[in-house]
Amino acid sequence: MITKPEKPINLFDCAASQKIIGQDKFLDAFKKILDHGAYCQGHETRELDEKLAQYSKTKYCATCGSGTDALTLALMAWDVKPGDAVFVSSFTFVASAEAPVLLGATPVFIDSKPDTFNMDPEDLKRAIAEVKAEGRLNLKAVIPVDIFGSPCEYDEIIKIAHDNGMKVLSDSCQSYGSVYYGKKAGSIADMSATSFYPTKPLGGYGDGGAVFINSDEENELVKSARVHGMSPSDRYDNVRLGMTGRMNTFQAAVLLQKLTVFEQELKDRYTIASRYDNELSSYFGKQKILDNCSSSYALYTITCENRDELMAFLKEAGIPCGAYYPRPVNTQTAYAKWNTRKLPVCEKLSKTVLSIPMHPYLEADVQSYIIAKMNEFASRYEAKAA
Ligand SMILES: Cc1ncc(COP(=O)(O)O)c(C=O)c1O
Repeated sequence: MITKPEKPINLFDCAASQKIIGQDKFLDAFKKILDHGAYCQGHETRELDEKLAQYSKTKYCATCGSGTDALTLALMAWDVKPGDAVFVSSFTFVASAEAPVLLGATPVFIDSKPDTFNMDPEDLKRAIAEVKAEGRLNLKAVIPVDIFGSPCEYDEIIKIAHDNGMKVLSDSCQSYGSVYYGKKAGSIADMSATSFYPTKPLGGYGDGGAVFINSDEENELVKSARVHGMSPSDRYDNVRLGMTGRMNTFQAAVLLQKLTVFEQELKDRYTIASRYDNELSSYFGKQKILDNCSSSYALYTITCENRDELMAFLKEAGIPCGAYYPRPVNTQTAYAKWNTRKLPVCEKLSKTVLSIPMHPYLEADVQSYIIAKMNEFASRYEAKAA
């Protein structure tokens, strides 16, 4: 008989690693910044750029204010503008589509695969053919999203995009630390964007993001756009449009500390996910992770036909959970005018997905309780079906 844990259960635990790293390490780093006074883009941000580029094995990394900034800065470097079509996953957080729309481009929403929940390369091909047949938009870029931390079918997507003269920007905002055929997130597509929002696998204490870049030219363009399009040789000459996209130095100091435990945290997320995979009833659908790939498990998400009932049941049992995402982006009010394609898999996923507690510090007995309760719910319906 498994009993309910005494302490409240968390869906995420953004503070737990402070105990492992030691709060004094953060305070020492903050004190140094207070002393040197470079609060925006201080030397800690450059150290973080270097460490992240080394970790991801990319030529450059440009840390910035958020994942949304990272997506937007990468698209700015490619001069995405009105009249351009940007093909984007719809089963995602809104920012994946918001970035091209902010630049005046037209988002073309792509359906997901029912098992991986990620961009369906076959639907991408269909959408490209439709846009070509209409002849109104210029094919510009594809933004596949590694949903919940799980890598997309990059070989297929990159080939389709490149065959059609387009670049691929990986939205790795949820997947920093994931691996695709030996390559770490950041190094797989033409450019990649990640987020350091607190609940992400590498989470800061506030907003933050980074662009991963492989060419000198794109590096210069992204870093210029990050500070209002500043010229590299004359800081008072702005040679292109840009934004306030700098990273706060305190945030870089936090992330430098968090990086010291990141590999261990990824291993722990993986162990927890494997236990869910093995012990949760087959009544629940599990997200398929591609062969030769590993997810960084920003979220652990199942599918369940009676999702809303399961949510109520878990709430009653003191188990927090969330429906990420209850509305595909193409169905949201601000995106209605681009809701031109039928995306049945995204629609179905939005009604059936449920994310359950996932963080590296989830204790084994708490996870046992979550699994027991989920399986208790499943057995009621399995018994009915028998
Ligand atoms: C898939 C995806 N893309 C983009 C973003 C935007 O990142 P941020 O919140 O750091 O702007 C997020 C963040 O939640 C995300 O999950």
